[in-house]
Amino acid sequence: MQYSLAQYGSFEIKKAISASVIALAFVKNSDETYAFIGSHGFTREVEKYFETEFLDELSFFSPTAKAGELFEIPVSAQDAKTERIFLVGAGDQSLTAQRLVASAIARKVRGKKSTVFSACAIGKAEIRAHAISLTLASYVWNLKTSKKDELPEFIVASDDKKIIEEARTIATAVCRARDLVHTPANIKTPAWMATKAQELAKAAGLQVKVLAGKELKEFGGLRAVGNSSPKPGPRFIEVTYIPKTAKKSIKALPHIVLVGKGITFDTGGISLKRPYDTMTAMKTDMAGAAAILATLGAIAELQPNVKVTALMMCAENAISATAQRPSDVIKHYGGTTVEVINTDAEGRLVLADGLAYADLNLNPDYLIDIATLTGAASLGLGRQYGAMYTRDEALAKKLCEAGEESGDRLWHMPLIDDYQDALLSDIADLNHTADKGKYSAGSVTAALFLEHFVGTRRWAHLDIAGTARSENDSGETPKGGTGFGVRLLIDWIMKIK
Ligand code: BES
Ligand code: MN
Ligand code: ZN
Repeated sequence: MQYSLAQYGSFEIKKAISASVIALAFVKNSDETYAFIGSHGFTREVEKYFETEFLDELSFFSPTAKAGELFEIPVSAQDAKTERIFLVGAGDQSLTAQRLVASAIARKVRGKKSTVFSACAIGKAEIRAHAISLTLASYVWNLKTSKKDELPEFIVASDDKKIIEEARTIATAVCRARDLVHTPANIKTPAWMATKAQELAKAAGLQVKVLAGKELKEFGGLRAVGNSSPKPGPRFIEVTYIPKTAKKSIKALPHIVLVGKGITFDTGGISLKRPYDTMTAMKTDMAGAAAILATLGAIAELQPNVKVTALMMCAENAISATAQRPSDVIKHYGGTTVEVINTDAEGRLVLADGLAYADLNLNPDYLIDIATLTGAASLGLGRQYGAMYTRDEALAKKLCEAGEESGDRLWHMPLIDDYQDALLSDIADLNHTADKGKYSAGSVTAALFLEHFVGTRRWAHLDIAGTARSENDSGETPKGGTGFGVRLLIDWIMKIK
């Protein structure tokens, strides 16, 4: 699909009037008067050009100025292509507010052939967030054969061209992840995912390795899940980023390994999902794998001085004669045996192989997994915060900060040792459903299960079951895949030294 990426524009009236819409942001002062944010010189020029006092027009509506509140003022002037001015409430001017401002603008023109000149953001971080959110909120995905949507154009006023380029890279990555998530499961088999990884790797200058069939001998979890759909069967996809010009030797660079759940469709397997309407959203169960692949695409453009490896654990969890059974015992990468109890808890089985592979072969300085793992995570936190599990307080802090700044927000959850005995099994090293003891903390016990495969690494687990998918079309997200995790991981990686 194609995306409406932000273009750079300077604060110039000539540039502004070449657009069909000019967007300005306002705040309400404590004395109930209104003011524009940003370059007052510029807003005054716009007012002069169109011979209107926008603040007066605004007072007429007496708006609250909450973030994203939008008024359209029709205008016309000789030599100006501009037909409308958007006056948008800037709320408390936080980054979150800035994202709402951009979303309100983008949603007005989504699918339409408009050009918006936006002078709503001041400050580097604000401009970056604004430019990214314009693209995200105007995103559309469908396989309709008729009536193609038009792509609006966005020009973002800024003093800094580089920040707009960075925003384009990040927004492209989020949209790429969304494209993968939106693609239905009859198209996106694990083999298709591998092809997509190879295409991106080729275009971006990344290395890629794909394992299939007999090559997956040691990956007992990935095979147990993925052989339920033997054509084409599961894939282990390893994508590696190494900077083009490393300042240190490659061995000395910090190594970040990302592991993503890539279940292309989750029926639940023999432990079939019920009620069945909970199944229709399950093409999004590969959102973790999509997020890490898209992240690497952006990292290859941004060229930070670190090494990053993405392990995409791709399999379909189907119901078939070759599907695993409740009561099977499987052997994970590294040798741990696991008693399978509920075949719908398939995500942790594929992740366990990936985490053990990373620990035993890749010597990671940071090991992060990201997965639509448990319905319980979204029960606890809803759809706005991802659940983060780690015992490493410093890592938690960095990830939370990256979350707040990027817009993909996280909540630090506890790995509760009192629940460890939920993982006991009479016949294997672990019971994967973690249902002994009836603690009913499904997201916590899933995290405790994963922890058994990470050795002594600095590890964090991100359960994005709630945030990876949006059930309504609003703000930055369409109905469907959100691309959650991409902005977060990019921002976090870019700060590692
Ligand atoms: N993919 C699901 C989790 C999920 C649920 C993601 C809702 C997005 C929205 C996962 O594979 C699953 O089925 N988890 C089970 C685990 C249980 C059987 C221990 C769950 O959460 O119910
Ligand atoms: Mn499942
Ligand atoms: Zn699943």
